[in-house]
Amino acid sequence: MSDGSLRPISRTAEVRAQISTLRRAGKSIAFVPTMGALHDGHLTLVDVAHQHADAVVVSIFVNPLQFAPTEDLTKYPRTLTADLDALHTHDVALVFTPTADEMYPPGSITTVTPAPYDAIFEGAIRPGHFTGVLTIVAKLFNIVHPDVAVFGQKDLQQLSLIQHMVRDLDISLQILSVPTVRDPDGLAMSSRNRYLTPADRLRAPRVNATLCAIRSLFETGEHNSTTLLQTGTTFLAEDPAFTLDYLALVDPTTFTPVPTATPGTAAIIAARLNGTRLLDNIIL
Ligand code: PAF
Repeated sequence: MSDGSLRPISRTAEVRAQISTLRRAGKSIAFVPTMGALHDGHLTLVDVAHQHADAVVVSIFVNPLQFAPTEDLTKYPRTLTADLDALHTHDVALVFTPTADEMYPPGSITTVTPAPYDAIFEGAIRPGHFTGVLTIVAKLFNIVHPDVAVFGQKDLQQLSLIQHMVRDLDISLQILSVPTVRDPDGLAMSSRNRYLTPADRLRAPRVNATLCAIRSLFETGEHNSTTLLQTGTTFLAEDPAFTLDYLALVDPTTFTPVPTATPGTAAIIAARLNGTRLLDNIIL
C-alpha cells in the first residue's frame, strides 16, 4: 500500500471481486481471521501469513454467533482505526469487515457443529461457542478461498476443531498454527487482557506460571496426571482472586484427558480473574 490508507470492505460481493482480481494476477492468498482489537499476537499471524503467500487477507468481525447471551459481545473491544493502521503497516492487501447482517442475513439456518468435541472444556463452559466459531470460519473460507489460513495456538481447542472441520468437510486449504505470543512476564496476549485492571494485570501471569509449574515437575520425571494437576491447582489457588474453570492434561488433537503425561501432551487452563477469563496452554 502506498497511499497511506487501507479501506475496509464490508460487502461479501466486493471481497469476492477483489479476491478474483488477486487470483487473475496469479497471487496466492493467506488468510488471517480475527475479531479485531489487534495485538502483537495477531500481527505475528499476519507476518507468518506473508511467509506463505503473495497476498494477505484479514477479516475483522466480532461474531455474535460464538457469544452466549450472557457473554461480553457488546463490550468486546472494538478498535477499527488502530487495527487498520496496524494492518496497513503490515502490508495487508485486503481487510474484510462485514456486518452481522452481511454474515447472517435473515433466513440463515445452517451451522457447523463439531460434536462431540464442542461439549468439553471451552465448549462445556461456553455452550454453542464452537458452533459459532466453525460456522463463521467456514463461511469466511468460502468467501476468501485462501490457500492457507493462519491461527494462533493460544486457542488450542479452537485450532484443533478447525483442523478437524477442514479435514471432515474436505475444505481445500492448509491450516498453519503459530505459537502463542506472550508479554515478557509470560501472559498470553489476548484482546480480553484489556479488561484487566492494573492490579489484576500484575496477577494475571499466574495462569501461565501454573502451566510452567506443571511443566517443571513433568521435567523432573513426574508423569502422573493427577499429581501434576494437583501441583498446578495448588499453585493457582495461592492467589484466591482466581476461579479455575478447568486445568487438564489432554491429547492436543482429541482433547481427551490423559492419565499419564508424555512429551506432546497439552496442559490447558482457563481461569477467571474478577470476571476476565484467561486461557492458556503449553505442550509438554
Ligand atoms: O479466534 C478468534 O479470534 C475467533 O474465534 C475467530 C477464529 C476469528 C472466529 O470468529
